Amino acid sequence: MALTNPSPRTGSGTAHPSPTSARRPIPGPAGLPVIGSLLDLHRDSLGAFLRAQREHGDVVRLEAGPPGLRSVFYAVFAPEGVQQVLATQAANFRKDHPFYEEVRQSFGNGLLTSQDADYLRQRRLVQPLFTRRRVDGYAAAVATEADAVAARWRSAADGVVDLVPELNRLALRTVARILFGVDTEAAVTAIHRCAPVINDYVVRRAYTPVKIPRDWPTPRNLRNRRVTAELNALCDRIIAERRTAPGDATTGEPDHNDLLSLLAAAGNDEDGTLDATEVREQVLIFLLAGHETTATSMAFTLHLLARHPDEQSRVRAEVAHVLGDRTPTAADLDRLPLLTRAFKESMRLYPAAPVVSRRAVEATEVAGFPLPAGADVVVAPWVTHRHPDLWEDPERFDPDRFAPEREAGRHRYAWFPFGGGPRVCIGQHFSMLESVLALATLLRSHELTALDQEVPVAAGITLQATGPARVRLRAL
Ligand code: HEM
Repeated sequence: MALTNPSPRTGSGTAHPSPTSARRPIPGPAGLPVIGSLLDLHRDSLGAFLRAQREHGDVVRLEAGPPGLRSVFYAVFAPEGVQQVLATQAANFRKDHPFYEEVRQSFGNGLLTSQDADYLRQRRLVQPLFTRRRVDGYAAAVATEADAVAARWRSAADGVVDLVPELNRLALRTVARILFGVDTEAAVTAIHRCAPVINDYVVRRAYTPVKIPRDWPTPRNLRNRRVTAELNALCDRIIAERRTAPGDATTGEPDHNDLLSLLAAAGNDEDGTLDATEVREQVLIFLLAGHETTATSMAFTLHLLARHPDEQSRVRAEVAHVLGDRTPTAADLDRLPLLTRAFKESMRLYPAAPVVSRRAVEATEVAGFPLPAGADVVVAPWVTHRHPDLWEDPERFDPDRFAPEREAGRHRYAWFPFGGGPRVCIGQHFSMLESVLALATLLRSHELTALDQEVPVAAGITLQATGPARVRLRAL
């Protein structure tokens, strides 16, 4: 495989630069003399990263901001380099990047943002909810929520829906039902109002070299404070509701099957395993990380299938053959390979976490290039998933790329929508199960025709559709 920069493999995975590579400068765009690439990154960071790879290769140095305040960071696009950052050198690449600092300020020290002893404690605590056996048990709840959407679509007034809000609502209801054991209809509106405000706030601050302190009363700060308070109050309400709920209706015993029960039990523990703020922070992280990503991935899968009617027919035929009219179960996941491939291909083109960031502790070498101690580094599924040396005709929707014979020999980090290494997404099996079963339910009940062709997107904390993804529905 020819990569654009000559990138000798280090193979060692250790954090020590070799004397030869240390002399090689990392290429990058010159940008504008006064602000570097700041404007480009603010206007269209995904486009800027893609151009950087095309024009400068697989490890690129970017500068943003005025001289004196200029921030420098590095983007790593080669799968070998991605593997080093996320997996083999994970201990050297920490979540200390300004982006994660901002997410931490907004959402607290939950599983996505915490590190070291806090992180290990939290991961151990919630891991039992994400074992394959446990996740398989979520299938019935997924099917119930997806059925409700299919029923609602049958009565959609003009037969036209925008997939992004539709799937957002579905994913939020599903995660809340499974992880918190509550009906979150009221939360849906609040989260959909608050999440975009915080999203925009975090991303703007993360890539701005000069940050106005969060406690200054600027309109943006005040708006952010208001919605953060609203989300915190929402989480507290969910926790309180769940604590006073009678639990299992037949036995009256508390239901220990969801995240909230686990967190609450830990919070009540005398050794103070999790305090009240930590419980709330976990709830918030899981509410947000657990729905928007899956929603975006499902919405783009349906939209791509709506744009490619032949693929849609093929997938529907598979669903009809495998499921008929019965409710899908976890065992069906392996029986729906065409739908699974369409979902994976959609995550290639529209990775819900398009950019993942880290900060290097020690100087090191990645994909053959030297990175200084303290370097801010991003890896970008958005770019690596479109790398012309890894993917033929990368912009084309071609689910068969994920047929076993075509997957064989592909680098593990050519496709990494769920990240990798020790901080890999804890929800990946859950989200595969949820997506494939929910998509099967919706495709079985409706034929979709795309009304919008391209859907514009931008990088927020997760990938954001910035325009509608409307389809016309025909009930089957
Ligand atoms: C298609 C759906 C999803 C995508 C594309 C996705 C993507 C990711 C990625 C890329 C990471 C790693 C971030 C990093 O290394 O900095 C991550 C971590 C995480 N995700 Fe997901 N995610 C999805 C679904 C979910 C779901 C359904 C949940 C929860 C129910 C979830 C909860 C989390 C959490 C808690 C972490 C942090 C894990 C840790 O550091 O141990 N995600 N996700």
